Amino acid sequence: MASTKPNKYFSTALGQIIRRRRMTRTFDGGPSLEDLKELGELALRAPSAGFSQGAHLLILVGDDLQRFWQVSGVGAWFGKTSPGVLEAQSVILVLADESAYTNRYSEGDKAGHGLEKAENWVKPMWLTDAALVTQNLLLLIEEQRWGALLFDLFVEPRKLLDAFEVPANVHCAGVVAVGYRHPQDQPSGTPTQRKRKASVDLLHFGTWNTHIEDPLG
Ligand SMILES: Cc1cc2nc3c(=O)[nH]c(=O)nc-3n(C[C@H](O)[C@H](O)[C@H](O)COP(=O)(O)O)c2cc1C
Repeated sequence: MASTKPNKYFSTALGQIIRRRRMTRTFDGGPSLEDLKELGELALRAPSAGFSQGAHLLILVGDDLQRFWQVSGVGAWFGKTSPGVLEAQSVILVLADESAYTNRYSEGDKAGHGLEKAENWVKPMWLTDAALVTQNLLLLIEEQRWGALLFDLFVEPRKLLDAFEVPANVHCAGVVAVGYRHPQDQPSGTPTQRKRKASVDLLHFGTWNTHIEDPLG
């Protein structure tokens, strides 16, 4: 049975932002370049393995943004499926520099585990770190009551990255369209067709097979 107790954590400012956040697919302009710069600076203050700090943000507005929509092919896709996305003020590419990690793990305090070679990592942690920056972006944008849509480069990401002079060992972890949420923007996408899974099925305590309905009860 679900708890009826008020939850002390979800009522914090951050808890409310996390609960309120949803993807925006109809934009109406958006913040200035100065505000986007501040947003980016704050979002980059995320944890990183070995403090490698390999996440970068490429902010595109104006003509650069139009070139992004065109070269990536994403503009044509959203033009057909969700044209309101193309009214966003900016897209921010979240980029992961693999070599920042292989270089950092060649240094004295980290050397000796073979991690100076990307293929020896059990997973590409540069993408993990970039995902943390991405979530910072989404939450900071929601805090401002702006709008964001996270998507990825569907086809030939390298072609797009080359067009914007992104080095070969730097990968795109995701793209965040940023703008003001249009007053008529409605919840959209898959959450309108599927229910959120019950947390009791996703939270495990002690072993995979142990779930607790009300762990605080
Ligand atoms: C890695 C990733 C890729 C996504 N790609 C797309 C996308 O290409 N197009 C899109 O409209 N939404 C995309 N989304 C948004 C998800 O559909 C959305 O987060 C999910 O349905 C939950 O909805 P909410 O974020 O509004 O709560 C993506 C989300 C993630 C995390």
